[in-house]
Amino acid sequence: MSDSLYRTTMRTHACGELTAEHVDAAVVLCGWVASRRDHGGVTFIDLRDREGIVQIVFHPEDAADAHAAAQRLGAEDVVRVTGSVRARPDGMTNLQLRTGEVELAAASLEILSEADTPPFPIEDRIEAGEELRLRYRYLDLRRQEMTEVLRIRHSINAITRDHMESLGFLEVETPMLTRSTPEGARDFLVPSRVWPGTFYALPQSPQQLKQLLMVAGQDRYYQIVRCLRDEAPRADRSFEFTQLDVEMSFADQEDVFAVIEPLYARYVREIRGVEVETPFPRIPYDEMLARFGTDKPDLRYGMELADLAPVFDGTGFNAFGSVLATEDGAIKGLAAPGGGQLSRKELDQLVQDAKGRGAAGLVWMVVEAESVRSPVEKHLSKEEVDGTLRATDASEGDLVCIVADQIGRANVALDGVRRNLADRLGLIPEGEWRYAWYTDPPLFDWSEEEGKWVANHHPFSAPATDDLDPKTAKAKAYDLVLNGFEVGGGSIRIHRPEVQRKVFEVLGLSQPEIEEKFGHLLRAFRYGAPPHGGIAMGMDRIVMLMAGKEAIRDVTAFPKAQSGSDPLTGAPAPADDGQLRELGIQVIPPPAKEQRPPIGRE
Ligand code: AMO
Repeated sequence: MSDSLYRTTMRTHACGELTAEHVDAAVVLCGWVASRRDHGGVTFIDLRDREGIVQIVFHPEDAADAHAAAQRLGAEDVVRVTGSVRARPDGMTNLQLRTGEVELAAASLEILSEADTPPFPIEDRIEAGEELRLRYRYLDLRRQEMTEVLRIRHSINAITRDHMESLGFLEVETPMLTRSTPEGARDFLVPSRVWPGTFYALPQSPQQLKQLLMVAGQDRYYQIVRCLRDEAPRADRSFEFTQLDVEMSFADQEDVFAVIEPLYARYVREIRGVEVETPFPRIPYDEMLARFGTDKPDLRYGMELADLAPVFDGTGFNAFGSVLATEDGAIKGLAAPGGGQLSRKELDQLVQDAKGRGAAGLVWMVVEAESVRSPVEKHLSKEEVDGTLRATDASEGDLVCIVADQIGRANVALDGVRRNLADRLGLIPEGEWRYAWYTDPPLFDWSEEEGKWVANHHPFSAPATDDLDPKTAKAKAYDLVLNGFEVGGGSIRIHRPEVQRKVFEVLGLSQPEIEEKFGHLLRAFRYGAPPHGGIAMGMDRIVMLMAGKEAIRDVTAFPKAQSGSDPLTGAPAPADDGQLRELGIQVIPPPAKEQRPPIGRE
């Protein structure tokens, strides 16, 4: 019998590691009481620790004191038990449990810590609401399911470090108290006591610092790093998240891909036991949008979008004709296999969903043996119907969905329709992992909201050519997509100060602003900047996907609630007057309706 990794001065083994190999061994275990049963004068408890559960038997004749004490045990009491391991009697084994062939015959029992009745039972079929689980996260994390998640997260970090190390990357830490880096979100600000009235920004990413490490000649950098962005939290987006941040010198796009692809294939192999082919497909950004309506498509199913503008060129159907006559007007459609089975109510819902995503409407067609069934059937010619079926590759029993609108809105709506139908029609295969890169996105996007050009990725991405015209310029940038999620993104960087300055100018920054905000970077580039590029991978998202969970909150030890507050500690909390005075800060009370206490402190 090998010595246990878990041996300490208080115990010989972990509960969950005892197997038939340990029969007859004298052991000491520590753990939490998961349950207690009394049977014919004998008391059984299931004792739990991180490694699992083991059954302990207290016999009144063999160990009278321990038996008496065991009868008073309650759920989650922490105990230390001494005894000997024995095989369970015939017919009493439990093959579901690693320890299911053995039990511990207790000789003595010591209560280390008594527990109040927990607010919810510690079991994997949990019914407690999220807020309660977050408020008592330390109890929630005792569940085996949560331990599994933490293990997957740990494995991903361990695999990552192993991989990056093997390729000569150096892990370098960068500061948390820094200056704003533009990644497109709001900064979290930290007031300075020493310099009242000034603020540090928590890093949205270590973007500029990793570039400066390349100027510093450090060649290959990586970091598993927390990033902070004040943007509306969603299932796959949180205030605080973790990036695998990477930068390399004398490298082009393919060099970055060659670092990331084997790592991402390895996660799937080692955690899900599935082999993923490399290299991953590379799809130009424009093609990705044209085919899927989104830059993060789920490639596990088809239903690609077809351009129906040629089919409806010169149409007599006014709703379509008038859209095609506008600038940016588009008609696109897709065919959902077997979608003809949807009820009228479901079809109406689909139309509502498309409208909810900003489209003017959605036209559907059910393909029948000789004809189609559609609310607009009488407005369409036979050629138009046939052309639509051909373009979308539809056949009998399918549902064709068409959106006529400004191209951006048509794409957004049909992306939603595509995902919605894949889910409803059960078209998403389990256990498939479909990676793809997009490449060559635009360098700039026009922001209606801000009335100016903004960087599509961030302002440090290199233009693909000399073209810096914001309407046409492409970037040497890329994103990695997995099953409908953006799991990473990066670019080859600008390393020539004059190019960087021109990009800032297109973004509407004045010379003094450029100096003020980015003077340090431009100065560094004048001291010998190597061509360089990199990427940052969203670790929470890959853990979420590998663990089969639906939200980053489910794979984070101590997450914020969806509202952004922390039910466990009650953060965010007001600062006391003394602290505020020291910082030179005066609080303007928010309007009454915003004055609600964060979750956990009502
Ligand atoms: P980007 O902003 O695309 O790039 O971020 C990289 C990856 O980080 C993940 N991510 C998030 N995950 C959870 N919550 C969030 N709020 C969140 N925001 C981003 C995504 C995303 O793909 N500095 C650049 C990288 C570079 O150019 O090297 C950057 O941060 O998976």
